[in-house]
Amino acid sequence: MIYKLLNTKVLVTIALLCCSLLTIAAPDAKNGQSLFKANCATCHTKNMKADMTGPALGGVQERWEGREELLYNWVRNSGEVIASGDAYANKLFSKWNKSVMQAFPNLTNENIDDILLYVDEMYTGTGIGAPDPGTTTEVVNGEPTSGNNWLYLLLFGILATLALVLTRITANLNHLADVKAGQAVQRKSLAEILTSKRLVTFVLFALVVLGGFTTVKNAVSFGRQQDYAPEQPIKFSHELHAGINKIDCQYCHDGARRSKHAVIPALNTCMNCHKAIKAGPEHGKGEISKIYAAAGFDPVSGTYYEDYENIHKDTLIANMEAWLGADYLNKDGNTIKIKKDQAEEQLAEVTSYIQSPIEWVRIHNLPDHAYFNHAQHVVAGGVECQTCHGAVEEMPVLKQYAPLSMGWCVNCHRETEVQFADNPYYDTFENYHEDLKSGKIDKVTVEDVGGLECQKCHY
Ligand code: HEC
Ligand code: HEC
Ligand code: HEC
Ligand code: HEC
Ligand code: HEC
Ligand code: HEC
Repeated sequence: MIYKLLNTKVLVTIALLCCSLLTIAAPDAKNGQSLFKANCATCHTKNMKADMTGPALGGVQERWEGREELLYNWVRNSGEVIASGDAYANKLFSKWNKSVMQAFPNLTNENIDDILLYVDEMYTGTGIGAPDPGTTTEVVNGEPTSGNNWLYLLLFGILATLALVLTRITANLNHLADVKAGQAVQRKSLAEILTSKRLVTFVLFALVVLGGFTTVKNAVSFGRQQDYAPEQPIKFSHELHAGINKIDCQYCHDGARRSKHAVIPALNTCMNCHKAIKAGPEHGKGEISKIYAAAGFDPVSGTYYEDYENIHKDTLIANMEAWLGADYLNKDGNTIKIKKDQAEEQLAEVTSYIQSPIEWVRIHNLPDHAYFNHAQHVVAGGVECQTCHGAVEEMPVLKQYAPLSMGWCVNCHRETEVQFADNPYYDTFENYHEDLKSGKIDKVTVEDVGGLECQKCHY
């Protein structure tokens, strides 16, 4: 009897575990998409990267990190948050010329989580935001969720097997108990036992096949991603900017020190310099003019167009044609004469960026189930960009240097010493601090602080 009870209890627990694993109450990007379209899209751009009536929402969660509750309140009623005196909210409000965001008192926290997930996916080009294959933002190896499904399948398989095995054991125990109690019971027929064994074997076999298939598939895509160096909409050179002109990586990728994403710079960042630098050593005005076309800047007058979206395209093309056709002085003060056919060629290319955003092709792309955080590595870990990205300052065309495989992450965590002393982040590891002081150990690796634990890197 007691075994029977145990049996049902165990089975129910396992069933529940399976269910909860399969239906983790995760935010739903699809729902977020419809909510965004219905409520937010009038003021916030869908690509999450450009400002419109309201700011680009990309990376917004990082800007409100640690103040999640306040972010929910902001969406429901931004006026209240501003009135509460929150410094960030007030700064934002002034920056946007005190234009008031609409209030959405009916949105629940879950609704807002859905929207935020959608925002992040559009911004990072994952999930719903994954670029269509065939457009300019094509990404090789673009099945970010397949690995995730596989993880769930594996877990499900293991739990199902466990359930079956436990059923067998309890059945046998029940049988023994019955025999002990002197009851003459029939043993399960051979056929029954065989079927369940066969089931177990089948499940194991299926897992092996599935695992093998995924490994091979991933091995192939690893090879394809490393060294990936797609052509970009603007011939932007890291060699020219970070190498020759020694611009700090974090001037442009300013997310690296404070957030998960290093962030691709907005055109405003480019314009800080290119309002003045209107031609380059290699491509003359051609490539830089694409920035102007996208940002709504008139290089002739040196000012931004007013109401750019509503100016007739023909007018803008005519202005661009005049600009690209005119001779200019280069950095060294020499006059560069423009050839007519060259100007025409450049115009044809630049025209497609007039009034439309620059869509950089994403190069690095971890699957959704892996978690990587730049700030943790760059700030807390003190790891140089180049350790992971190679000699970027020597790359005219950026390419993916590291394999970005799990083995790559794990190896570095095994080998790398953390900067343990004087790092408040590690105050909790008292034992290590004492052992270091007493000379019992001479270093602490990332592995020692838990860097090989699955859940640190996997959602
Ligand atoms: C009527 C225009 C408008 C609508 C509609 C709108 N917003 Fe905004 N939003 C703004 C403006 C303008 C700001 C900048 C702050 C300010 O001036 O109040 C802003 C700021 C924000 C911020 C803070 C951004 C940051 O960088 O910290 C978030 C988050 C936000 N909006 C989310 C939403 C969401 C979610 C929706 C839809 C449910 C939405 N907004 C709908 C205009 C709008
Ligand atoms: C002047 C601005 C600027 C500077 C400075 C700069 N970058 Fe970039 N970076 C960009 C732009 C724009 C892109 C997107 C276009 C491309 O991939 O070339 C980019 C792309 C990247 C990417 C690939 C992003 C992806 O899609 O996966 C990496 C990695 C990167 N930069 C690292 C660096 C490092 C390391 C440095 C310093 C040595 C640096 N960058 C300096 C502007 C800059
Ligand atoms: C420990 C390794 C490591 C270091 C150090 C590192 N990166 Fe990255 N970087 C990555 C990985 C991994 C990705 C892919 C992240 C993803 O797909 O989510 C990435 C992606 C990027 C991207 C693409 C956009 C994004 O944020 O996902 C840029 C740009 C970038 N890194 C720039 C930098 C710069 C600049 C530095 C130095 C300040 C730096 N990285 C330091 C590993 C690193
Ligand atoms: C900190 C200043 C600075 C920033 C920011 C900056 N650039 Fe530049 N850029 C330069 C300098 C300097 C040159 C070289 C001019 C020269 O040598 O004549 C240049 C040249 C160029 C060229 C011409 C290349 C050629 O060979 O003709 C392009 C294209 C370009 N930048 C694109 C960008 C883009 C896109 C961004 C934003 C992601 C950006 N730049 C941000 C300083 C900057
Ligand atoms: C070049 C070496 C290096 C590589 C490559 C690297 N890491 Fe790290 N990682 C570190 C260091 C150093 C730390 C410790 C940072 C600190 O002090 O918190 C760290 C810490 C972490 C942590 C926090 C661990 C903890 O216990 O809190 C996570 C999560 C993490 N890394 C994920 C990744 C992932 C995912 C990858 C691969 C995509 C990766 N790392 C690649 C060096 C690396
Ligand atoms: C330091 C970070 C890190 C740790 C720790 C880590 N993983 Fe991973 N794992 C990754 C990354 C990154 C990937 C994605 C590699 C890729 O692009 O396929 C990955 C992929 C996977 C995959 C998908 C198969 C594949 O190759 O895509 C599985 C399954 C997995 N990890 C299981 C685990 C288990 C189980 C543990 C604990 C024993 C673990 N991981 C610990 C970073 C880590």
